[in-house]
Amino acid sequence: MNYRDDLRGVRAAITGGTSGLGLALMDELLMRGARVAFVARDPKRVAAVAAERPGVVGLVGDIGRKDDIYPLATQITGLLGSLDVLVNNASSLGPTPLALLADTQCEEFEAALALNVLGAFRLTKALLGALAASAREHGGALVLNVSSDAAIEPYARWGAYGSSKAALRQMSRIWNAELADERIRVLALDPGDMDTPLHRLALPDADPATLRRPADAAREFADVITSTLDDLRENMSMGVR
Ligand SMILES: NC(=O)c1ccc[n+]([C@@H]2O[C@H](COP(=O)([O-])OP(=O)(O)OC[C@H]3O[C@@H](n4cnc5c(N)ncnc54)[C@H](OP(=O)(O)O)[C@@H]3O)[C@@H](O)[C@H]2O)c1
Repeated sequence: MNYRDDLRGVRAAITGGTSGLGLALMDELLMRGARVAFVARDPKRVAAVAAERPGVVGLVGDIGRKDDIYPLATQITGLLGSLDVLVNNASSLGPTPLALLADTQCEEFEAALALNVLGAFRLTKALLGALAASAREHGGALVLNVSSDAAIEPYARWGAYGSSKAALRQMSRIWNAELADERIRVLALDPGDMDTPLHRLALPDADPATLRRPADAAREFADVITSTLDDLRENMSMGVR
């Protein structure tokens, strides 16, 4: 099936767009006709990724830093015009090498929560007005939070990361219930184990041949984005809430 252009006119923002899943998802959304803004910390990588993709908005910022959130949100909505889809993808593993909770520093635990939970919360909150306006105008908007099986399975040495992903998953469910009347869906999706720098940092001995390609997970995520927006928009045209 050819999905080219099925997201034409959709405006999307992705945190962590210079590597792994975020980069692959950006390319998939661009191929489908979306306009995309992305955020990452390394200015050289942001400039290089944006330079290769004409029309893409590359923003430098740290989602784990409270003071970066409003300037980023303002730039995202200002440069894209508004926002239909937010993907909270940037993530911290907590301590690396991965450590037992007893050996995890409080600051390392805090850093995982600051990015994976609070960062996603703050950015969603800062962009809620734009998402609600898009939902009113076009029928629906979507926040996609990138989760993990560590949100559910109690893997040893994944304590800071797993706890933060569990909180992100539950926060997504609550946002989703609270925002249903505004036609904003909030989903938490697990991309599965992928061959990325984050995975190599966590499990350096893993055989890459056993891991998914980020592009495959990105295609599935883009399918979810497409079908969710289609459902919301179709339901609005039929008067269903
Ligand atoms: N890889 C897996 O096997 C796997 C499995 C399950 C779930 N996931 C989830 O999938 C998502 C993507 O992971 P990935 O493996 O694709 O990671 P990745 O390849 O390491 O890429 C991470 C991206 O996030 C950016 N980033 C990191 N910290 C940031 C911060 N504080 N503020 C803004 N940007 C930041 C990085 O750029 P800078 O460093 O320049 O900021 C980079 O662009 C994460 O939520 C992860 O938990 C991954």
